Amino acid sequence: MLEVKLEAERKPDEISGALIVPMFKGEEKAEPAVELKGDLEAVVGRVSGHEFKAELEEVYSIPIEAAPDRLILAGLGEKKELDLDCLRRAYGKAALKADELELESVNAVIPKIDKPVHEVVQAIVEGAILALYRFERYKSEKKERKLRELKIFTKINEETKKAVEAAIKICEGVKVARDIANTPSSDCTPEKFAEMAVAAVKNLGIRYRVYGMKELQEMGMGGIVNVGRGSRHEPKLIELEYDGGGDLYVAAGKAVTFDSGGISIKPHEKLHEMKFDKSGGAAVVGILVAAALLKLPVRLIGLIPVVENMPSGSAYKPGDIIRFRNGKTAEIISTDAEGRLILADALAYAAEKKPRALIDLATLTGACVIALGNHASGLFSNNDELAEKLIKSGEETGERVWRLPLWKPYYNQLKSEVADMKNTGGSAGGAITAAAFLSNFVGDNAWAHLDIAGTAWTQEQSEQKSYIPKGATGVGVRLVINFLMKEGKKKN
Ligand code: BES
Ligand code: ZN
Ligand code: ZN
Repeated sequence: MLEVKLEAERKPDEISGALIVPMFKGEEKAEPAVELKGDLEAVVGRVSGHEFKAELEEVYSIPIEAAPDRLILAGLGEKKELDLDCLRRAYGKAALKADELELESVNAVIPKIDKPVHEVVQAIVEGAILALYRFERYKSEKKERKLRELKIFTKINEETKKAVEAAIKICEGVKVARDIANTPSSDCTPEKFAEMAVAAVKNLGIRYRVYGMKELQEMGMGGIVNVGRGSRHEPKLIELEYDGGGDLYVAAGKAVTFDSGGISIKPHEKLHEMKFDKSGGAAVVGILVAAALLKLPVRLIGLIPVVENMPSGSAYKPGDIIRFRNGKTAEIISTDAEGRLILADALAYAAEKKPRALIDLATLTGACVIALGNHASGLFSNNDELAEKLIKSGEETGERVWRLPLWKPYYNQLKSEVADMKNTGGSAGGAITAAAFLSNFVGDNAWAHLDIAGTAWTQEQSEQKSYIPKGATGVGVRLVINFLMKEGKKKN
């Protein structure tokens, strides 16, 4: 684990060891985003504009014979386009460079920009820690990171100290989410998912319960029971609760440990990626971990329905009609539209608790990937205020969301002759009809649904970001935690 220290502000030439220097891309040359004088200015001037243009995430390492003994120039891109995500990316890349150079410790100065210092510090720490993440469980040869320490030279005060602590805790939540989502389905059956979730939250004062098949039947959870019954691994519902006082929030996450499509079986291309269909649930575990570590002044319940969607002699079938926790029924058109069925029960159960806000995260539809590509999650909500807050949080965290409508005609696509609704609404507007389906289960609670199908793992068209290595991204953890941090603050 990377250790992060704050050090009192100092001039770059008074810092020994390797130093990360942020650089802006200028008209012709790259310009230092900090004040450099004398020899350092000359050294940087020699490479600026030719070898090094300071494109975002461009890095350039120069060994020198002075203090510092090495400069790692970190490109921020153009000044007018700078946001917190550029900082995550630039410092994430610089941390990777330092590690590649086998440095054990690296120093960093922060750019002089028009943003609160603590936000800058938090983004830098997040970028560095998240970039160094690796999923190595199955590698025979585990490559330990060489880089152990990051020293940031800046103002040391309560705010900046808190920013470092917060970043570390949030990244711990992201790591938990990535680890669970990255684990292949055979080692992450519903039962093992529950074990991993419990292991992650156990020592954090989070209460947990895991409901099995029999209890799910007794609780009237026909969605989870029916989707789960095709697999030899029985379904679970995981309930996690962190109580920091204050208002209740619920986060629910789809966890399909493997989505074969069931009897409506999927084609084989990219089928292996369906191990990531548990990413919403994995994010919820990460959100609870981070909330507890941060001691957020809110009450937070995490609900994770976990199933393996498989075809078999005991599987549910197209044409079946199933009944959910809230008494509503659905006619099954496709067993591949399973996420909404397990979430329906979880949402209905959550709605009974009357939370201040109910947020679900799910790799719900391929249609959402068609609509938004891999650069934003779909957002659907019955509450404008909640939606606005999540959009803002998306901009701040770099986990962008884009809102899609939930107008009446979309609901008509779900009409059934024989049940209260069908589980699919055709291919037109597929992400929206899926969200419309879910809205039948939230009662009058403020609710937001995040379709993370395009963002939960790195896909062909995903933008490469230094702090998001290939595989599970942990998307949703930073987005929702940043939202909850602000919700908590309002009250005090
Ligand atoms: N898990 C999939 C959605 C998905 C597909 C996520 C590709 C990420 C990448 C979901 O369970 C599903 O199969 N949805 C169907 C719904 C359809 C049958 C109405 C889909 O999107 O095709
Ligand atoms: Zn499916
Ligand atoms: Zn699915």
